[in-house]
Amino acid sequence: MRVIVIGATGTIGQALVKTLSVHHDVVKVGHKDGGFHVDIASVDSIKTLYDSVGSFDAVVCAAGLAKFGRFEELKEADYLLGLTNKLMGQVNLVRIGRQYLKDKGCFTLTSGILSQEPMKGSASISMVNAGLDGFVRAAALELAPHLRINAVSPPWVKETMEAMGMESSSGMPAEKVALAYLNAVEGTRTGQILDPRSLIKN
Ligand SMILES: NC(=O)c1ccc[n+]([C@@H]2O[C@H](COP(=O)([O-])OP(=O)(O)OC[C@H]3O[C@@H](n4cnc5c(N)ncnc54)[C@H](OP(=O)(O)O)[C@@H]3O)[C@@H](O)[C@H]2O)c1
Repeated sequence: MRVIVIGATGTIGQALVKTLSVHHDVVKVGHKDGGFHVDIASVDSIKTLYDSVGSFDAVVCAAGLAKFGRFEELKEADYLLGLTNKLMGQVNLVRIGRQYLKDKGCFTLTSGILSQEPMKGSASISMVNAGLDGFVRAAALELAPHLRINAVSPPWVKETMEAMGMESSSGMPAEKVALAYLNAVEGTRTGQILDPRSLIKN
């Protein structure tokens, strides 16, 4: 399969590229660097990407910004960042990409377990992740039978926790998280939110 990976330079994205590349032709898409790049917050940028990559069988997105911060400190602009970037950015990858994706192709988006397991500081991110999960479940009904769509809802990634100076023993290594995306791309499921913890042994 020819698989577009958006966010290919990120913590999850790099592991994803490595895992998918074993059996698939991976098109790596960065934000600013690389042969292909996109700003998912821009519809024009998404169209330019799809116009330039040629035909493909799958789109995987491991990108999307949303603000983490104490409830009393989150401004409206902070919520809007998550809505315009992580939420609508991925929604637009699907809305626009469905016209380019091959028949029987699939989208795999990224939400996050903070939708189901919130913590202090996650109000904006939890809202966005829950929105993505709802979008995926509903969109799958109308994309079938021609296209599939799923989301991976990662737990805290070990490398991210280490980079943030957090105690990381509960984190899942990015290479394990990547296996959930592989499952979504290679399998037949649609409309599902995949928690790597229940798919992959840590
Ligand atoms: N890491 C975790 O613990 C964790 C847990 C749950 C969910 N998630 C979610 O998983 C996703 C990826 O997380 P990550 O930790 O791998 O992120 P990351 O390391 O910060 O990487 C983000 C990737 O997205 C790209 N990017 C940034 N802004 C973009 C834009 N406007 N348009 C297109 N691409 C853009 C970055 O490109 P550049 O390198 O060029 O900036 C990079 O490739 C995020 O949505 C995050 O919320 C992460």
